[in-house]
Amino acid sequence: MLIDTHCHLDFAQFSEDRSAVIRRAEDAGVGYFVNIGATLDSSAASCELAAQYPEIYASVGVHPHDADGFKEEDLAKIKELAVKDKVVAIGEIGLDYFRNLSSPENQERLFASLIEVAKDMSLPLVVHTRQAEEQTLKILKAAMPLRAVVHCFSGDENFLKECLALGFFISFTCNITYKKAQALRDMVESTPLDKLMLETDAPYLSPEGFRGKRNEPAQIKLLAEEVSRIKGISFEEVAERTTENAKLFFKLK
Ligand code: NI
Repeated sequence: MLIDTHCHLDFAQFSEDRSAVIRRAEDAGVGYFVNIGATLDSSAASCELAAQYPEIYASVGVHPHDADGFKEEDLAKIKELAVKDKVVAIGEIGLDYFRNLSSPENQERLFASLIEVAKDMSLPLVVHTRQAEEQTLKILKAAMPLRAVVHCFSGDENFLKECLALGFFISFTCNITYKKAQALRDMVESTPLDKLMLETDAPYLSPEGFRGKRNEPAQIKLLAEEVSRIKGISFEEVAERTTENAKLFFKLK
């Protein structure tokens, strides 16, 4: 069994065929999905999907891209969602200095306040960080102890070491299959198997051979195959270990 620990099945890209997408993933061996909130609305939609499908769990949070539009009263709404049944994490939250769609100040403020929500609720974090590794670590370190997964890992060896030293999990997407992604494959190699999780980030980041097309959770099989090649272990071992990690991290029943 595989677990897609980060997907966005609530997004409009799936509105026409959501049930078929979920069925295809299950046929490909996906046992659970963690649907990740990116805005207040998508966090609510994530909770609705979790209520509707037994195999879907929800994470609630607001992406750093939307930090500028985040209002004080929205925090109460996130807290309301966070106590709902099957909410297993706060995220995705973090910093994105690559696209800088919101000001760094607002991103940092939002990140810090949602970390506090996670701590109050004893939930782990799903962290998004892009070209903001140093500041991300600074904010996380100030809030330790924390449980966190760094999603769609894109950092270097040093950032990986820092994250592992803090006990964080590392999750990789299908972008490790891209021809030019040798640096990322090196990071997979350096990540211990007991800290590694798999995610599609669907509808984004389709694997090599499918680039430019909508991604979907069934494709996680190709990701697990790539990890098995990189680590020189069987597909079954990748599936077993990453599933164990995801169950432990998100406390899936
Ligand atoms: Ni995402």
